[in-house]
Parts: sequence; C-alpha cells; structure tokens
Amino acid sequence: MLTQAPKGTKDMLPSEAHLWQKIEAVMRRRAALSGYREVRTPVFEHTELFLRGVGDTTDIVQKEMYTFKDKGDRSITLKPEGTAGAVRAFVEGKLFADALPCKMYYLNNPVFRYEKPQSGRYREHHQFGMECFGGKSPSVEAELISTLLGILGELGLKGLSVSINSIGCPECRPKYHAALKEYLGGRLDQLCETCRERFDRNPLRILDCKEEGCKQLVKDAPTILDMLCDECHDHFETLKSMLTARGIPFTVNPHIVRGLDYYTKTVFEIMVTRGREGLALCGGGRYDGLVEQLGGPATPAAGFGIGTERILLEMSNQGVTMEAPELCRVYVANITAADNEKAYLLCQQLRDEGIRAESDLCARSLKAQFKYADKLSAKYIALVGGEELERGVIKLRNMNTREETEVPAENAAAAIAEIVNK
Ligand code: HAM
Repeated sequence: MLTQAPKGTKDMLPSEAHLWQKIEAVMRRRAALSGYREVRTPVFEHTELFLRGVGDTTDIVQKEMYTFKDKGDRSITLKPEGTAGAVRAFVEGKLFADALPCKMYYLNNPVFRYEKPQSGRYREHHQFGMECFGGKSPSVEAELISTLLGILGELGLKGLSVSINSIGCPECRPKYHAALKEYLGGRLDQLCETCRERFDRNPLRILDCKEEGCKQLVKDAPTILDMLCDECHDHFETLKSMLTARGIPFTVNPHIVRGLDYYTKTVFEIMVTRGREGLALCGGGRYDGLVEQLGGPATPAAGFGIGTERILLEMSNQGVTMEAPELCRVYVANITAADNEKAYLLCQQLRDEGIRAESDLCARSLKAQFKYADKLSAKYIALVGGEELERGVIKLRNMNTREETEVPAENAAAAIAEIVNK
C-alpha cells in the first residue's frame, strides 16, 4: 500500500455512513426544535484566534494545535475546537445587532488536536456543538443540556451522567485562585510536574488532573462553590432547580474545570457511567467574556461540543444498532450484453420513480448478475431481454417469494414501481 491514513485519523467507510447520517438527522431535528440554526465556519483560522480565544496556558494551545505558515507567511491553525470560530463569525457577521439570543449549531465540524491517539481519542475528530449568544439566564444551560440529552436519548444511549460545576466569574474567581494557591503552595512537592507548572499560570486545572497524587491532594482543597459571588451562586442554584424540574439527574462535581480558558460560571460534562475515566462524551459551559475578548460587544454566551466518534463508540459499547438502509430494491439484469443499454435505461427510469435500482456496470454474465443482486439483497430482479422482450414484456421476480410477474416493456418503470412499492 502506498501510504496509510495518518495516525489518529479514521475513515468513515460507506458501510458506516448510515450511522453518521442518523446521528446527524437527530441532531439537526432536535437543534431546530430548540431554535438553533446551522453555522459553518472555516476549517482553519488565524492562529491568533485560538491563542486569544482558547487560552495560551491550555494544553490545546501549548501542545496540540496543527499550526503552519501559509504561502503568505500567515500563521494558520486547523480548528482545535468549534467555539472560537463560532464567536468570530458572530462578531464578524455583526449578529449581535440582530434579535438576541442568537442560537447556532455546527454539525460534524472537523476538529484537529495533536493528541496521543487511543480509543475515542483522535487527532481529527468531528464535533456537533450548540452555541447560544445573548442569553445570560441559566435557562440557556438548562436548554442546552436538555436538548443534548434529548439527542442522546433518541439515539438509544443509556446510563449517562450529567456533572455540573460553577467556576465563578472575574469577580469571585481571583479569590478562589488565592485560596487554592494558599492550600497547594505548601504542598508543591506532592504535585505532578505538569501541575507544578500550572500552579502559577492556571491553578484551577490542577483540580481535574488525572495523576493519583494530585487527585489525592485536591480532595481536601477548598472548593469554589463555597466562594462564589451572589450572582454566580444564584445562577448555579437556578440551573440546578431547572434541571431538577425537568427530571434530569445530575451531580455537582467541584473538580470539573474543563481544559479551555474561556469558561465563566457554569461548566458541565456528560460522562458514560460505565466507561473509562477521563473520556467525556460531551463538554460545555458558559463563556460570558469571550465575545468581548474577541472584539465584539459584551455578550453572555454558552454552549457545548460533543464528538461524533465518541457517540459511535458508546453506541457500540451499549450494543445500540441501527438498521442499514436498503441498498437495492430492483436489480435490472440484462440477459445478454446487447440488452445492457435497455437495462440501463430502465434502471434510470426506476430511479426517477424513486426506486433504489441497479443495473450491471461490470459486463457480467446473467449468472454473475444474479449473484451480485443477491449480495445487494435486491428484493426484485427485472429481467431485460430474451423472448419476453420480443413479446413486449419484462419479467419481474420477487426474490423472497420467487413469484414472477410480467409487466409491459412500454412504461415498465411505472408498472414496476407500483408493484415494488406495495
Ligand atoms: P472539549 O471538551 O474540548 O470542548 O471537546 C468537546 C467534545 O469533543 C468532547 O467531550 C469529546 O466528545 C470530543 N473530543 C474532544 N477531543 C477529542 C479527541 N481527541 N478525539 C475524539 N473526540 C474528542 C470543546 O471543544 C468546547 N469547544 C465545547 C464547547 C462549546 N464549550 C462551549 N461551547
């Protein structure tokens, strides 16, 4: 083989297409029901957007971005997440001047992160995300979480747990940073090397470190939920009440901080209950400062992103299957090579009637065409040629019952459609 797909990427083969398409259809329908419209932004952006938007202390920006210089010597980065691009489009398109909230979703956006590949973790993955601009009420987060659970439920996934936290705002977070640093300051030697680096620049991230030593240490750390300002506290309490009212079970996990810098107040994750630790199905939260930070007017916002590959993985883990669509209802076989053109014509006419039809593209013998029709699980075979055609008819065989009918060769497509659509 000339070359293989790059490490950490995955082909979506035609045999899996119906799964992706089903997921996309459910996402589109549920997003539309919640008033979200689709947005498509470029696969690459100016690197500056992510440095400013995602945050230059994050793992994504420090280690994982696919960044290169283009021929005009501009620094370009393949999208490492969807939010920053959506915010840029919101600002550049002046959508803030329209009626707010402005609700948008992106569907199977390719996202690139130079990560260590493993099951459910790729260097290119695809995200569905919903972003809401202009809503400051916690009902935005409640709506996002409800819509997301609606999608996952409709896809047949069970055993999902919603974890929520509040990481405060620019008013209350600095106080918490100080308290956390005071607690950790005397115990730096117990932190892993990465967390020792995080201590000065981004101490909150230490809270969700997966290293055992760090996990033990932060168990007794002060929690931000005890230090929220009144506004953040009320926001969080209202969100909890709304989720409860809707019957959505959730846990409050003060160690969820998320790996991106833009979050304020609410952060949330959806985990699979019996899964590997650290592999979230979905992550999201509020980012009230980001629009302004990227040059727009101060606009509260919140959203989430979910990886389609992880949904597929979880569907497979839970044994959720989806029926593959019919490949071929009528196989139009040509009896001799000379009948191939007529078979081709009938096949096209059947397709015009909305019937999934196939005819021979490989110059196969009649026997080989039958074999192929069987592989396609064709429900009917139309036989074009022979003495039937001389009599002005076409023979149609039902492959399940073996029953045979004859239809007039003239207008055969309409007559066949009537039979096979029954
Ligand atoms: P994130 O948590 O970095 O958040 O990613 C969101 C989701 O993308 C994850 O929960 C997971 O399903 C999927 N994902 C992330 N990395 C990978 C990977 N390497 N391989 C496969 N799937 C992956 C964000 O990206 C935020 N932009 C979410 C957001 C939107 N927050 C507000 N609005």
